[in-house]
Amino acid sequence: MTKEKILVIGASGQIGVELTLALRKMYGDANVVASDLREENELLRGTGPYVSLDVMNKEMLHVQTIRQNITQIYLLAAILSATGEKNPALAWHLNMQGLLNVLDIAKEEKLSKVYWPSSIAVFGPSSPTTNCPQQTIIEPITVYGISKFAGEFWCNYYFHRFGVDVRSIRYPGLISYKSAPGGGTTDYAVEIFHEALEHKHYTCFLEKDTYLPMMYMPDAIRATIELMEAPKEKISVRTSYNVSGMSFSPEEIASEIRKSIPGFTISYAPDYRQKIANSWPQSIDDSVARKDWGWRPEYDLAEMTRDMLVNIEPSSLADTHK
Ligand SMILES: NC(=O)c1ccc[n+]([C@@H]2O[C@H](COP(=O)([O-])OP(=O)(O)OC[C@H]3O[C@@H](n4cnc5c(N)ncnc54)[C@H](O)[C@@H]3O)[C@@H](O)[C@H]2O)c1
Repeated sequence: MTKEKILVIGASGQIGVELTLALRKMYGDANVVASDLREENELLRGTGPYVSLDVMNKEMLHVQTIRQNITQIYLLAAILSATGEKNPALAWHLNMQGLLNVLDIAKEEKLSKVYWPSSIAVFGPSSPTTNCPQQTIIEPITVYGISKFAGEFWCNYYFHRFGVDVRSIRYPGLISYKSAPGGGTTDYAVEIFHEALEHKHYTCFLEKDTYLPMMYMPDAIRATIELMEAPKEKISVRTSYNVSGMSFSPEEIASEIRKSIPGFTISYAPDYRQKIANSWPQSIDDSVARKDWGWRPEYDLAEMTRDMLVNIEPSSLADTHK
């Protein structure tokens, strides 16, 4: 394990911060190089090496990969669903070219593994809404979903054509307290905690009965690491794995929060994100991930809510209102 040297691209983002810290625990601080376009996240400062890097600059990425003796890349840089709808061309460009740059370098430098996340956003209105299976009709209606679906097939192609061991998970909406979410349709499920603690009221940008698949960050980090540590022969899906954590609506999470904050109220002012949410499944069937590499979620809505309310630091409340 000590021979591996990992580059995390997009390390200052919602997933990147926690994944980098988890990888540093496993592989040693010096063996996990964090990188991002923006400045190093304060939670990463002093915990290991950091380089400023634009994934679109293939030459620089290639130089860093060689210079740092990188053997694995985790590519997290992307434009998410809601932000993507505001600038479709940029979302397509970054989400596709960033991935192709990494896959090409992995091929040329014979990297041992690559991780790239997909999303439940690959599914569209014609996909089954409940227990959406691993293989089904996939007709995404967002540019983000289109880029993720195309990306899945690029991963599959590079594995079969060039032997690049690239692995992927279709994350549901991720809920965390350490770093802020980056412009997704499920961001409400993070904002609601901060607003509940600070103002005892939240105005939700989705309707009260909008069920979506969600996952608490500790489960998402564990899923990622378990997939990446699984023996190669266990990986039967080379596009991207469905994984499931929990499903709930804004109304349900609000009443769970109310158990700890009795006066908490919620109102609803749906915006353009409602249409995106309506196109996604309400729950996900992850039986293939369970069978192939033993995936099991640990957090349900009640446990996640308890943990979020205990861990959100008063200082982070100010950050969400910048
Ligand atoms: N957070 C979720 O709920 C969720 C759900 C499904 C899939 N995903 C996927 O997981 C991955 C990470 O998501 P996240 O929530 O951490 O996103 P995020 O927006 O919080 O973080 C992405 C990071 O990438 C960086 N970045 C952007 N452009 C870059 C570039 N050109 N070069 C280098 N870095 C650049 C950003 O500065 C940011 O720190 C993405 O692929 C996303 O699509 C996230």
